[in-house]
Amino acid sequence: MPEQARVGVLISGRGSNLKALIDAQAAADCPYRIALVVSNVEDAPGLDIAREAGIATFAKSHKGIDRAAFDAIVDAELRAHGIEVVALAGYMRKLSTGFVEGWTGRMLNIHPSLLPLYKGLDTHARAIEAGDATHGCSVHLVTAELDGGPVLAQAEIPILPGDTPDTLAARVLVEEHRLYPLALAELVRTL
Ligand code: GRF
Repeated sequence: MPEQARVGVLISGRGSNLKALIDAQAAADCPYRIALVVSNVEDAPGLDIAREAGIATFAKSHKGIDRAAFDAIVDAELRAHGIEVVALAGYMRKLSTGFVEGWTGRMLNIHPSLLPLYKGLDTHARAIEAGDATHGCSVHLVTAELDGGPVLAQAEIPILPGDTPDTLAARVLVEEHRLYPLALAELVRTL
């Protein structure tokens, strides 16, 4: 692995985790450099965050394209930019097996729950509904099973009386922004 690993970030939306990953690059000892941001939503707000940071972007809607074919297009872009590690940051697409296998051990995701609890959507509401005392976020390696790969790092926070899914999500998001750059840097250092 060269001095700074070239990272590709896949997004579909607002891009606050992307922003946290970008901001962490300001540290002199940051072991990665985001070299490409890909979005399957052509007007995703996160694309503007990437552009403002001077990072190359590739935006293409998946609509009307077979899943494996779309993933092959994304994969080709990543390879063309010399990407070594892929970070999913609010990428709201299931990935094809071929794509996942091509990035084994080199693709990670951030998920807003204490995995293996609450894979999938609406994690904050589900944690409150269940009466859990704590909630949080996890960074994990991506495997064929949705939100099912090995967990690399977690942050846990209390669920407070009166929490709504929105208030809880906001506090978890603060932890996501702290955790994701650390976990990405740690993974990159092991490659
Ligand atoms: C985050 O909550 C992340 O955990 C989940 O999707 C959301 C993305 O938010 N996978 P953002 O686009 O990074 O702001």
